[in-house]
Amino acid sequence: MSTLVVIGVQWGDEGKGKVVDLLAREADIIVRFQGGNNAGHTLVVDGQKTVVRLIPSGVLHAGKVCVIGNGVVVDPQVLVEEIDTLQQQGCLTDPALLKISETAHLIMPYHKAIDLARERLRGEGRIGTTGRGIGPTYEDKMARVGIRFVDLLDEKIFSEKLAHNLQEKNIYLGAILQEQALDYRQIFDRYCHLRTRLAPYITNTSRYLHQEISRGRKVLFEGAQGTMLDVDHGTYPYVTSSNTVAGAVCAGAGIAPRHIHNVIGISKAYTTRVGSGPFPTELFGPEGEKLRRDGGEFGTVTGRPRRCGWFDAVVVRTAARLNGLTSLALTKIDVLSGLPTLRICTGYQYRGQHYDEVPASTTVLENLTPLYEDLPGWDEPLTGIRSLDALPGNARRYVERIEELVGVPVKMISVGAGREETILIRPSFF
Ligand code: IMP
Repeated sequence: MSTLVVIGVQWGDEGKGKVVDLLAREADIIVRFQGGNNAGHTLVVDGQKTVVRLIPSGVLHAGKVCVIGNGVVVDPQVLVEEIDTLQQQGCLTDPALLKISETAHLIMPYHKAIDLARERLRGEGRIGTTGRGIGPTYEDKMARVGIRFVDLLDEKIFSEKLAHNLQEKNIYLGAILQEQALDYRQIFDRYCHLRTRLAPYITNTSRYLHQEISRGRKVLFEGAQGTMLDVDHGTYPYVTSSNTVAGAVCAGAGIAPRHIHNVIGISKAYTTRVGSGPFPTELFGPEGEKLRRDGGEFGTVTGRPRRCGWFDAVVVRTAARLNGLTSLALTKIDVLSGLPTLRICTGYQYRGQHYDEVPASTTVLENLTPLYEDLPGWDEPLTGIRSLDALPGNARRYVERIEELVGVPVKMISVGAGREETILIRPSFF
């Protein structure tokens, strides 16, 4: 078995960065397949914090190849800055260690301007986007007017596409969104400069991955955001603009379904969400405050405080089915120490109807009653613990109950931000 997919099973920010970084030790190649720099992973290695937004979190391991697949939307300016920062830290010194798909779409300045202006005009009804231009870039991809890396490499084609798009976008920006028009020359010059920096990395990553998988190399696919933010299966319209489920690996990296072998779902031991949208188990009192404070629940990309709530087994159960999870990793369980009682949501009730999976209707989601089961908490700090047996009895019971309710075995438990602060129940995930 040579491939492993890592997927967030809540609303993002589940701690995928740390898990991917840990699993990358076993992998040869680490691949991003959707999303863009709306994602942000904080990695803590030897006490040093690094935030990566576009380049896969495996980048801190020497000699691993990092791939940005065709399903990712790339802000080239952000990517160049990230490469510079990583190189200053002694990573990515060999250009062969980073490969960017020639068919990945570029985030353009007009995408960011549109994203921000639309959110401003939406007022109360805003989605809470990260403002990075992700949605408008995917819109253009689907409308078949997007600009890809392969287009950027050809100056004539790039210039034509940019001129054509900008003409239309400037009318939209001015007349509908009351924004300033953007200047063609400035964008053209900046992107030509970025092309020079990125050209050595641009290639056919789909073919490369096929070759490497066929050779038996271990490939790790790193999901961004979470299943509840999937544009088809999440809490629409409060979602991101890409498919975040495991199935998206095939389209977003250009590999065949038969090459997907293991899927690990990452879930916090409680629930968080940034941005707007329904959140059935959200806590508004001191318990939510404790989770935010002890869990350091502030967005990696935007710095926004995250909304916090109890563990929702309905959400994770739905995600387990959608992604075909073969195992689950529970993160931040240490944050729960000190709460006398822990609640787990086992189902939803709305107008006499029972739901054991997440309903599609926003009205139902916003008005349902979560059904809770109460479990006793524990006071002991968990960060120093390295084995399941050493966990306090109540913490073990909490984990076992989650396994029962979700129907997937927990094979990794994270008890702190550092790489080593982890209980590994399964020796290998490939
Ligand atoms: P967008 O992806 O910037 O369009 O934002 C759409 C929604 O997805 C907003 O609610 C964001 O807060 C949320 N979102 C996007 N990326 C992430 C992420 O990496 N973690 C958590 N939420 C995210």
